[in-house]
Amino acid sequence: MRTKLNDIKNAAIGEIAEAKTSVELNDIRVKYLGKSGEISLIMRDMAKLPKEERPAFGKLVNELREVVEATLGEKTAQIAEKEKFARLKAEEIDITLPSDVRPLGTLHPLTKVRRELIDIFLGMGFSVDEGPEIESDLFNFQLLNIPKDHPSRDMQDTFYVNENIVLRTQTSAMQARIMTTQKPPIRVVIPGKVYRSDDDASHSPIFNQFEGLAIDRHITMGDLQGCLQTFAQKIFSKDTKVRLRPSYFPFTEPSVEVDVTCAMCHGKGCRVCKGTGWVEILGAGIVNPAVLEMCGIDSNEYSGFAFGFGIDRIAMIKYGIPNIKLLYENDVRFLAQFN
Ligand code: DAH
Repeated sequence: MRTKLNDIKNAAIGEIAEAKTSVELNDIRVKYLGKSGEISLIMRDMAKLPKEERPAFGKLVNELREVVEATLGEKTAQIAEKEKFARLKAEEIDITLPSDVRPLGTLHPLTKVRRELIDIFLGMGFSVDEGPEIESDLFNFQLLNIPKDHPSRDMQDTFYVNENIVLRTQTSAMQARIMTTQKPPIRVVIPGKVYRSDDDASHSPIFNQFEGLAIDRHITMGDLQGCLQTFAQKIFSKDTKVRLRPSYFPFTEPSVEVDVTCAMCHGKGCRVCKGTGWVEILGAGIVNPAVLEMCGIDSNEYSGFAFGFGIDRIAMIKYGIPNIKLLYENDVRFLAQFN
C-alpha cells in the first residue's frame, strides 16, 4: 500500500514538473485529485485494510493529497506568469512607429472653381444669392422677355414639371426674382444648378451656372467689359484677354458673347481652342429695358448689365478637362488630381 502511495506521488510530481501549459496542468489535477482520480480511488482501498491500520493510512493519503496540491499550485502560478508574459509580448505594439496615413478627401473641382468665382466677385462688391431649382415659367422665361411661344425656348430643351413649372434652365431666372423684389442699386451673383434635356461630351442634363446682375444709374457696356476682364484674368491668368462679339438674348439688348484667350495655349492655338486661340465662355449684355419695366424698375432712371456662364465650362477650360461627364462620375482617381 505504502509503495503504491509512493509511486503515485512520484508519478504526479514527475508529470507536474514536465507540464508546459495550464491545460496540461489541469489534466493532471483531474487525473490525481478529481472525483475519480487516482488519490480518490486509493481512499476506497482503505476498506480492505484492517481497522487499526486505517487512521494511519488515511493520514498518509491526506499528506499525499496535500503534496500534490501544493506542487500543482506552485507550478500553476509559474505557468500562469509565463503565459501572461507571452500574451503581453504578442500584443506588444511599438508606439513610436509612424501611424497609417488616413486618406484625405479633396474638394471637387466644381466646388473649388465655384468658391474661387464667388471670391472674385465678392472682391468687386457683388453679394451672393441663390434660388429654387424648381422654378415657375414666369421667372425662368416670361419676365426675361421669353413669352410662351418664343423660339428661344427650344434652345433650352426644358424639363417641364407641368405647364407652369419647370426645372430651371438658367440661373437668369434669379435675375427676375431679384429685380421684382429688390430696389437698385443691385450687384449680385447667383451660382446654382440648372437642367436641360441635353447630353453629349460638352453638355450634361444637370450642370452649374453662375449668373451676374448689376443695376444702377449710368451702367454701360464699358462697366460690363471691365468687370468681365477682371474676372477672366483672376480665374485664368493675368495675360488673359477678353473679346466681345455681338449676339442675341431676349433679356439683354445689346447682347454679347464673350471669348477669352485660350487658357491652355495662351492664344497660340491648340486642341482645346480648336486652333483659334479663343474660347467662348459666356453670354452677357445690357439688361433689356423691357425686362426692367416688367420687373418694376424704371428704365429711364436705371440701366444694368447681366452675364451668365457655366461653372462646368470654366472648370473644363481652366483644368483642360475634355469631357463634362468626368465632373459628374466622381471617380476618385480623377478628383484626387485637384488637390
Ligand atoms: N442664361 C443664358 C444661358 O443659359 C446665359 C446668359 C446670357 C445669361 C446673357 C445672362 C445674359 O445673364 O445676360 O444661355
